[in-house]
Amino acid sequence: MGTYAIAVLAGDGIGPEVTRQGIRVLSAVASRYGHTFKTTEALVGVAAIEAEGDAISDATMELCQHSDAILFGAVGGAARYEGPNSRIQPEQALFRLRKELALYANLRPIRPLNALLNASTIKAEVLQGTDLLVVRELTGGIYYGKPSEIRETPQGVEAIDTLIYTETEIERIIRTAFELARDRRRKVTSVDKANVLSSSRLWRRTAERVAAEYPDFTFDQLLVDACAMHLIRRPSSFDVIVTENMFGDILTDEASMLAGSMGMLPSASLGTRRTEHGVFGLYEPIHGSAPDIAGQHKANPIASILSMALLLRFSLGLKQEADAVEAAVNRIVEAGYRTEDLREAGKEVISTEEMGRLIAEAIA
Ligand code: IPM
Ligand code: MG
Repeated sequence: MGTYAIAVLAGDGIGPEVTRQGIRVLSAVASRYGHTFKTTEALVGVAAIEAEGDAISDATMELCQHSDAILFGAVGGAARYEGPNSRIQPEQALFRLRKELALYANLRPIRPLNALLNASTIKAEVLQGTDLLVVRELTGGIYYGKPSEIRETPQGVEAIDTLIYTETEIERIIRTAFELARDRRRKVTSVDKANVLSSSRLWRRTAERVAAEYPDFTFDQLLVDACAMHLIRRPSSFDVIVTENMFGDILTDEASMLAGSMGMLPSASLGTRRTEHGVFGLYEPIHGSAPDIAGQHKANPIASILSMALLLRFSLGLKQEADAVEAAVNRIVEAGYRTEDLREAGKEVISTEEMGRLIAEAIA
């Protein structure tokens, strides 16, 4: 027992409505297991730009720094901030959180629920047995490299982005992947583009060196284009996939389709700071703010609820509670309840709030 401090940054679009259900499930966990969770809400994204002049304020960063974990919703989706010339972008909040809190390891587990095998666009027999974890490097690579700009030159306008990785950054994330594989099937696939990119050649070399320290693990390496293909051809053959920032971004949207909908997939972004209970982290659905369906009670809250489960497990050290949340999600989906994104003949389509309530009740 103890108290646990959670910063809640619900953000924009469907962020607030799905996060509300994540919190509802947390309350169910609190009453069933007798914990006290202290949640503090703060603004982020468009809401913060409009109220505080920045995508995330210093005060909110401070709040996060002093919490055990962050539950994050989504940011972005307001046309007035999306243009390439907009000075402040809501996504900057995410980049600042990831970088300043040193959340370098982004974990995106993908395990299609049996009840949803037919909801995917991929054949059920291909999906059968899929249980993979993508470990995406989150604080380096082309997302942060400088220079990154559009500029005038005597020959005309050009744009540049910089893809840079240090050996230390690569080594750290590869090691994280192996440590995570230890409690799984002990298989690590490192993904790069070593036939083209120097940063990937350093990645490959470093991955091989670290892999040699884990002789009882299976290790292989794939080029990112081949990995994209194998993900939908033989998804069940993967255990842990480790890759750089942008490849991980792209591959996880692809892999989300294995689970039937992006609305099912949680993520955990972990750093090195230890809290009293576990490792500090930020937890968020992998989906975005989906402004087209915001406020319509259609969004699937399961990604936020499962993000809460990861938060309980990694940052608060509450394994049994995390398992209970995951089991409750399973039970409600097995019982045939679906949100709009998973509409299926013969299944009942319910609202965001009803889905949250049913899962919370299944825990209580
Ligand atoms: C993600 C998202 C973000 C990213 C966007 C919102 C900047 O796509 O977390 O996968 O590219 O990292
Ligand atoms: Mg993405």
